[in-house]
Amino acid sequence: MALDLEAAVEEQTLKEKVRELAIKKQAIILAHNYQLPEVQDIADFVGDSLELSRKAAAAKDARMIIFCGVHFMAETAAILNPDKPVILPDLKAGCPLADMITAKDVKELKKENPGRPAVAYVNTSAAVKAEVSICCTSSNAVKVVNSLDSNTVIFVPDQYLAGYVAKRTNKSIIGWDGFCPTHARFTVDDMLKARKEFPDAIIVVHPECILEVQDMADYVLSTGGMTRLPGEIDARQFVLGTETGMVYRLQKLYPEKEFVPLNKKAICPNMKKITLKKVFDSLVNLSPQVTVRKGTRERALRAIERMLAIT
Ligand code: 13P
Repeated sequence: MALDLEAAVEEQTLKEKVRELAIKKQAIILAHNYQLPEVQDIADFVGDSLELSRKAAAAKDARMIIFCGVHFMAETAAILNPDKPVILPDLKAGCPLADMITAKDVKELKKENPGRPAVAYVNTSAAVKAEVSICCTSSNAVKVVNSLDSNTVIFVPDQYLAGYVAKRTNKSIIGWDGFCPTHARFTVDDMLKARKEFPDAIIVVHPECILEVQDMADYVLSTGGMTRLPGEIDARQFVLGTETGMVYRLQKLYPEKEFVPLNKKAICPNMKKITLKKVFDSLVNLSPQVTVRKGTRERALRAIERMLAIT
């Protein structure tokens, strides 16, 4: 008990030091909704992939960006802000989905499907983004695909987000077999159990879940959509089919409602690599920084800016 109290005091002190240092160094701290609770607590802004890209694009007054998320997110911020340091407190915070496709794979897909525009989910490397017409996130994927002047569209790398889009557009989708290991682990069995255990709850899942799970849910939403939903409907209890960091995020936003994970084991090990101590160290040392080569950056920027312009 005494140890718990000591740890809580230590955490509070570190949080205060991080905030003081962020102000002193004119750093903006951006955090994804899946970050550890103590990291969400010290951020200037917590949001989904699209909201974080927008914040990064608008971070003109900050002298540096501390990005609490995974590598492709910090890379997107670096593409949008070539003149300021973008710091990812742990460079090993990667994304297995982003690693499932390379720029060479996209070039081959384009060669096999000439004239078809290619869309890359933001969960990709800068090199992949440099090869496509436009990027998308889970919150704007349908809008992005509908904006393209072609009946057939290449869409990489998440096969389940591609399936989600295919159901909501009249376009033919040429997909890729990538998936997010954290989201693809939700099963039909998890859904059946949740319906039985929480009969009055609203079940909301992420479009990276397998299609059978999406079909059984009440809503299929990005983490940003999940953040808004409890404020828009009357329900009191929500089961969340996404990374468990969302439970903390929503419980803090809506203390009068109840949020339950669809599966407690849905933890993204990469998102959880960013700790409060690493955020503090990165502010002290201004490292590790994420950088993108000029040529790649310029081409990737076009795809990101097209996305930001239409949504
Ligand atoms: P969101 O855009 O919904 O935040 O998606 C984040 C993500 O990478 C899911 O794995």
